[in-house]
Amino acid sequence: MWTSTPLTERFGCRYPIVQGPMGGGASPPELVAAVSNAGGLGSLGCYHLEPAAILDAAADIRRRTDRPFALNLWIPREREDGESSEPSRALARLQPYREELGLPPLLEPPAPTVQDFERQFEAVLEVQPAVFSFVFGLLPEPMAAEARRRGIAMIGVATTVDEAEALEAGGVDLVCASGFEAGGHRGSFLRPAEKSLTGTLSLVPQVVSAVRVPVLAAGGIADGRGVAAALALGASAAQIGTAFLMCRESGASDLHRAALAARARARRTTLTRAYTGRLARMLANRATEDLAQPPAETLPYPLQNEATRELRYAAARAGRTDLLPFYGGQSAPLAALGSAGDLVAALAAETGAVFKRLGSERG
Ligand SMILES: Cc1cc2nc3c(=O)[nH]c(=O)nc-3n(C[C@H](O)[C@H](O)[C@H](O)COP(=O)(O)O)c2cc1C
Repeated sequence: MWTSTPLTERFGCRYPIVQGPMGGGASPPELVAAVSNAGGLGSLGCYHLEPAAILDAAADIRRRTDRPFALNLWIPREREDGESSEPSRALARLQPYREELGLPPLLEPPAPTVQDFERQFEAVLEVQPAVFSFVFGLLPEPMAAEARRRGIAMIGVATTVDEAEALEAGGVDLVCASGFEAGGHRGSFLRPAEKSLTGTLSLVPQVVSAVRVPVLAAGGIADGRGVAAALALGASAAQIGTAFLMCRESGASDLHRAALAARARARRTTLTRAYTGRLARMLANRATEDLAQPPAETLPYPLQNEATRELRYAAARAGRTDLLPFYGGQSAPLAALGSAGDLVAALAAETGAVFKRLGSERG
């Protein structure tokens, strides 16, 4: 049976379907629990939460489901890659949008709040979820040892085969191979994200051949054809973000969901550092197009994120869909608005139908 994979067997889920963690509030407890209840593995993106809020969110998930789920954090990075720039020039590039939105000039980016990764990780240990997943690097060995001691399975995100090998050497239980079709930030950590762009169809089988641990395929999967393809490439599950972002339980705004569902617009995504300073895939808009014109002028993360914060909030208040960062992957046009439970059921039915058709045609 296609539903029987190392992932479903290890965690006791019905389907090899993982709802990708989406930080910044995009994957709230409602979504995580709905996916886990429907037979997939839900994941809470919680890099943006204080430790106490991680505990609260996990308790909320547990009130809604007794099924396994994942918590996800961003590994802090020592050095940011990307376009470094004179702050004044980067800020000047944002000024026309601020003016349009009635905001005064920004002379320097506000000081970022520092992420307390160690305390966030302690909260994860306290929650003791079935899975802890992380992105943007390797988990320091003492932390990995502690997770292992508590029986928490670890998933690390790789955007290249080298990163997958490094994650395996670091002791992860599963590797998530993320192709460049994926929505959200590129999790690259060995080389700059721009130099780590491999598509899912090429990346997944190479990672499957390179590591012994089970592999999740992420990036561009939004229907049962994609799930079946991921399994055919040797993955133990498909990790899906954008299609779940379009579900009503996600934390996406109505404007964001509508933009992803507007097929003509959703056909045009782009990889950009414009909003946060880290390379991310989102729907193309005026700002991503303008800021893509040379010379590249963005501050390194998290400064660019701080520099665009007021602008993003003002654009949201004004309903300015031409200036809001609508994160999403290349396969948004394959997905539809609906509920997470219905999406899991549809993905499972479609995947089963694909294997049945291939079996009878080719078997
Ligand atoms: C809005 C958004 C936020 C995301 N945040 C995270 C995150 O915090 N941590 C993470 O590991 N992956 C994150 N991802 C990646 C997803 O978990 C998933 O791997 C990816 O969306 C899969 O590709 P797809 O969008 O084509 O389905 C995010 C994706 C999106 C669209």
